[in-house]
Amino acid sequence: MSTGVHAAWLPPAAFRALGSRRVLVHGDGPLVDTVFDEVAAACAEHGGRARRTGARPPTSADAPVDGVAVGSADDPVDPVFDLVFALRGTGPLPAPTVAAAASRAEAAGAAELGDGLGDEGFLLAVGAGATVVLADAPAGLLYGLFHVVRLGAAAFDGARPPRAYRPALRRRMLDHWDNVAVHPVMGQVERGYAGGSIFWRDGAARRDLPRLRAYGRLLAASGVNAVSVNNVNVHAPEARLLTDRLGDVAEIARVLRRYGIRVHLSVTFAAPVVLGGLSTADPLDQGVRDWWAATTRRVYERIPDFGGYVVKADSEGQPGPFTYGRSHAEGANLLAEALAPTDGVVHWRAFVYNHRQDWRDRTIDRARAAHDHFAPLDGRFRDNVILQVKFGPMDFQVREPVSPVIGAMPATRLAVELQVTQEYTGQQRHVCYLGPWWSEVLRFAPWGPGGATVADVAAGPAGAGGGLVAVSNVGDDPFWTGHPLAQANLYAFGRFAWDPGLDPLAVLDEWIDLTFPVSATGDPDLVRDTLHDVMDDSWQTYERYTAPLGVGFMVRPGNHYGPDVDGYEYTRWGTYHFADRDGVGVDRTRATGTGFTGQYPPPWSEVYEARERCPDELLLFFHHVPYGHVLHSGATVIQHIYDTHFAGVERVDAMRRRWKLLAGVIDPAVYERVVERLDEQWRCAVQWRDQINAYFFRKSGVPDAHGRRIH
Ligand code: GCU
Repeated sequence: MSTGVHAAWLPPAAFRALGSRRVLVHGDGPLVDTVFDEVAAACAEHGGRARRTGARPPTSADAPVDGVAVGSADDPVDPVFDLVFALRGTGPLPAPTVAAAASRAEAAGAAELGDGLGDEGFLLAVGAGATVVLADAPAGLLYGLFHVVRLGAAAFDGARPPRAYRPALRRRMLDHWDNVAVHPVMGQVERGYAGGSIFWRDGAARRDLPRLRAYGRLLAASGVNAVSVNNVNVHAPEARLLTDRLGDVAEIARVLRRYGIRVHLSVTFAAPVVLGGLSTADPLDQGVRDWWAATTRRVYERIPDFGGYVVKADSEGQPGPFTYGRSHAEGANLLAEALAPTDGVVHWRAFVYNHRQDWRDRTIDRARAAHDHFAPLDGRFRDNVILQVKFGPMDFQVREPVSPVIGAMPATRLAVELQVTQEYTGQQRHVCYLGPWWSEVLRFAPWGPGGATVADVAAGPAGAGGGLVAVSNVGDDPFWTGHPLAQANLYAFGRFAWDPGLDPLAVLDEWIDLTFPVSATGDPDLVRDTLHDVMDDSWQTYERYTAPLGVGFMVRPGNHYGPDVDGYEYTRWGTYHFADRDGVGVDRTRATGTGFTGQYPPPWSEVYEARERCPDELLLFFHHVPYGHVLHSGATVIQHIYDTHFAGVERVDAMRRRWKLLAGVIDPAVYERVVERLDEQWRCAVQWRDQINAYFFRKSGVPDAHGRRIH
């Protein structure tokens, strides 16, 4: 597909193993058409043969290039296939050899099939010279297709044991913080670092349908199945997407549907007033309820598979139920009631806190806010409400504890929200592969080691949980994500949403294999080793040169890029570090602080409460300690600050030098873009190092034990 943009993890060469084979697609329906179109394009590129059969002739507008009915008079020979994608229950497979291969696959995978494959699962088995992908529903075939692409030649290895694949999380969603009209402060994409929006431009729909299609394809290949198309801060033009601009949303839905992606909309709680002309948006008012019901009905008439609403209410200036003295459960249930006749859901965000705090008032703690607001509401939300909780209690920092809300609402469907867009992690100018961080969060056990994990909560009982959501990092940049290596974060998000147990470095390997296919690079080993060297620990490198030991922020207010240690210290946002001449950190203990540690169940309530037990990397999040406090690592806090900041910059310098080895080995456009970004990362890391070190040296008066230069 030529869209003039970088192919990311789906370059034509990634389809070589599949496209050079004899492939049969058996099944009906639009998603099977998509599978066939992909197969046909790959075969046209790489010399294979694509055939299509089903209970009825294919109806795809992009008609099959080779859609002869197998075994028919036009094709009497019992054909041989190397690869078969078959939708079970479609009717007899077209030829005895294919039928035999499929039943062998089914028999081999019998134990794996268990309760069946579900709506999105597939069975992959190799035997008797053919690789067979079986699914019970068309989406399963689509995910099976992209899995075969990911495996490459390994998909045809006769020694590969049969395996059933099903997503651990049913809901795998990306939220776009895209504005329809350019916002005077936040621009076209709020916290966007990859150019404009792929959906909207200057107040109108962008209508770049090939680009949307390419996006849907990339997302499907990573596992994402839902997208919300506008910012959670809903301004006047965006509000109208719900009503008179619904056609724009329907068009996006039409394109993304071809890749199994459902479209959601962020709506304003004040919609009945601002769009409907009512005098109130009170969730208990009958007129308001009727307005939402009628409006939602119209949405579904236009977009039958619409996914539902995303709502940021009573947060950072957005309207909400508090205006009417109602609770967030009453607010969310209003929209849930309107959606009840459909299978759509309300994603109600738990990011609610006082953003007009007085820094002098030490009793307020922003970290407490989500739990204070929402935990008492557990069990009071309708079944089709998903409470969307940021993974940490603050705001997508490079290090935070896991949000205590995740362990506090067993009777509520929770979605965990991550941030792929690198608002606080280098804004796609810095390399920061977030896979290891997300993996740590998803594996965290809120009730103690060995117990259920964050991923289990998001999956929910019998898969009914709210799933995983992330803020997208995509824009109209030719590389999609500004920094070409930030594509790996987008890819990894989808993969973790599908299987949170994946090893983040193995996911990185997948991304490398797909994006830099062996056949298309000068020196595959060098490429792989270099990318691993630059990316594997890049999240920890970023942590080293920025705010220390979990204290967070210290970024420039407003744009959140680069250091400004006291930038937020005396502001209303609730993000303080409290450094003075004796020490630094936020006392969130029950004993002497804000009591935040009490929002965790044991053992974490005890682990975080006790300075001696608190993990080093979170020490300053939970405790205010003297500079001479000795960490578990053996270093004092002040020496740790100096050491990590010097080490972080050295590491960036090494990354920069290492990357240069790829000159002439990979696509020069990718190479150059990364060179330019690494230079900026180095410049910025030096700034962080010098400002943080100077700041703490001046506060504490403690010199560096190694006598390095501190300004
Ligand atoms: C952060 C971010 C905002 C965003 C908000 C949210 O505070 O800086 O731009 O609107 O998160 O998640 O709603």
